[in-house]
Amino acid sequence: MEFVGFSLRNNLFVAPMAGVTDRPFRQLCKKMGAGLAVSEMVTSNSLLYGSAKTQRRANHDGEVEPISVQIAGSIPAMMAEAARHNVDRGAQIIDINMGCPAKKICNVMAGSALLRDEPLVGQILAAVVNAVPGTPVTLKIRTGWDKTNRNALTILKIAEQSGIRALAMHGRTRACGYTGQAEYETIAAVKAQARIPIIANGDITSPEKAQQVLAATGADALMIGRAAQGRPWLFREIEHFLATGTHLLPPSVSEIHKVLLAHLEDLYDFYGIETGVRVARKHISWYTRGLVGSAAFRHGMNLLPDIATQQRAVNDFFYALAERNEHLSYIQTENDNDIEELAA
Ligand SMILES: Cc1cc2nc3c(=O)[nH]c(=O)nc-3n(C[C@H](O)[C@H](O)[C@H](O)COP(=O)(O)O)c2cc1C
Repeated sequence: MEFVGFSLRNNLFVAPMAGVTDRPFRQLCKKMGAGLAVSEMVTSNSLLYGSAKTQRRANHDGEVEPISVQIAGSIPAMMAEAARHNVDRGAQIIDINMGCPAKKICNVMAGSALLRDEPLVGQILAAVVNAVPGTPVTLKIRTGWDKTNRNALTILKIAEQSGIRALAMHGRTRACGYTGQAEYETIAAVKAQARIPIIANGDITSPEKAQQVLAATGADALMIGRAAQGRPWLFREIEHFLATGTHLLPPSVSEIHKVLLAHLEDLYDFYGIETGVRVARKHISWYTRGLVGSAAFRHGMNLLPDIATQQRAVNDFFYALAERNEHLSYIQTENDNDIEELAA
């Protein structure tokens, strides 16, 4: 698809997720079928630009283009500066976060808390757009502040007037956190009025759901977050289903094993040994969710201190699994706990 001046493989985007969509994960998702991956949120507080975490978040070496970087904050001049800073470091799209309900963010009046203050939204958007002429700026929001204040349509108008080039919407209000089901009516209502591309987000977990959300909203693109954790091949599965109406076979145990090992290598390389082993634990947990024997494996794996023991444990687990059944293991679950985890 054409998106804000870039030609993308498809209209399936990886949602920005702090602590998850680092460079290794973005690259992997793009390799496995995502058309675009938005970076983890980068602070607009320039005092933190020198910190290892912020520098890592702004590292795009070797990343498939276009590079979209999300910024968060509530002071227009600082957001403008953050946009310039990231464009200087390779960002080709700047995404503004007004969708994150995290307390840490909302308490300082940023993320989705901003939706409450429409004049300030306008000031931030205009400041960022003017700061990076030639670089498209996109916006990510929730449907509103709470269920009685769904002001997404007003925010759309402000965004369009400010020169925002696309709008991603998570179908929940800020007050809803992650509870309940995402609703797509508000996204459909915004799409019906929009002159810019609309990206629908929230609870897209399967090819069928992707098709339903596209149909229900009329959105130009879909954004997928949690369902892609430990399942980067979801993008190729959705891509295939939307194009053909048929399902790709789920990945075999040996493919999952191979993808995970390569992902781990990238994490060790990107973060260094100590942090790499720690960050890898959550990804290993996600990849093995729902697989036979995974609950006990995850428990033990979290205690392993270094690369060699972590890799060995992963290898032992997947070899044992492949011996049982190369093809069906992924959809078998060991017990109810696993099923609950899958649904969480
Ligand atoms: C661990 C985690 C971190 C997130 N971090 C961000 C973020 O930095 N910026 C943002 O706009 N949204 C963030 N989100 C929200 C997601 O982008 C997305 O809107 C939300 O998870 C709903 O989509 P999903 O149902 O496909 O997961 C985060 C979500 C999760 C689960």
